[in-house]
Amino acid sequence: MKPLRTAAVLGAGAVGSALLKELPLAGLRVLAAWTRSSGLEPPPLIDVDVVLLAVPDDAVTALCARLEVGPGQLVAHLAGALGLKTLLAARRKGARTGSLHPLRAFVRGRRQDFHGAAAGIAGSSAGARDQLAQLARRLGMMPVETGDKARALYHAAAVLAAGGQVALFSEAVRAFRKATGSSEAAARSALLPLTLGALEKLRSTPAADALTGPAIRGDLETIASHRKALPKDLLELYDALTAAMLRLKKPEA
Ligand SMILES: NC(=O)c1ccc[n+]([C@@H]2O[C@H](COP(=O)([O-])OP(=O)(O)OC[C@H]3O[C@@H](n4cnc5c(N)ncnc54)[C@H](OP(=O)(O)O)[C@@H]3O)[C@@H](O)[C@H]2O)c1
Repeated sequence: MKPLRTAAVLGAGAVGSALLKELPLAGLRVLAAWTRSSGLEPPPLIDVDVVLLAVPDDAVTALCARLEVGPGQLVAHLAGALGLKTLLAARRKGARTGSLHPLRAFVRGRRQDFHGAAAGIAGSSAGARDQLAQLARRLGMMPVETGDKARALYHAAAVLAAGGQVALFSEAVRAFRKATGSSEAAARSALLPLTLGALEKLRSTPAADALTGPAIRGDLETIASHRKALPKDLLELYDALTAAMLRLKKPEA
């Protein structure tokens, strides 16, 4: 399968603007860039090898239906949660379809690139998957194949690893503030080095070796004292996490 040489980027938010900067550095010519604020129809896509839909997930199907694409072209969305059904309109016009989902959080207005992230890849054919995997590598990412069947589970894992961590951290901040009377900002600063230090260990060790705390020591007395002190609405979460930590505890040699 020949490598992709030309691209169109539709949408210029957090991911779209990163693509507009990084695609030329990866050796692709961006022949068309479009945003809805132009008030115009999507641009002509003749000669474009790959059309990247960098719009919110719920806008992908409708935008795809407006595209003039055909055989020889590849239309891809960037959404981890969406399957390829959302691109059926392009498929019916003869284009191949796919998804390239960067496993990294992007924020509007911040200069960010794709280097070092994994990328979930799906495609309507082996050729589409190969081309998107190659594109991911050229952008500095590690491609991981995630077909439609595994997509929801793959995306759930990504949400647990990102939003799930943030939600858990915010509950730790709530408990810390209750215990110390600190402001939100002070509690966040006090706990953040602890969190980052624990996560940093995961770069080089599996979770079982990175774990600290009473569960890993089998210290049931401390766990019982935590349960007594915690607000009632945090108990369910604490118990679920303690159970997960106990599952990680290695059997005694
Ligand atoms: N952000 C992340 O961390 C991240 C990570 C991986 C994958 N993704 C995926 O990347 C895709 C784009 O996300 P994003 O975070 O870049 O979104 P975003 O920052 O909200 O930008 C979306 C872009 O699409 C435009 N848009 C909004 N509604 C539209 C509509 N109904 N029709 C056409 N264009 C519309 C926006 O225009 P306006 O500026 O006028 O609103 C903006 O240019 C999504 O599929 C998302 O799941 C995001």
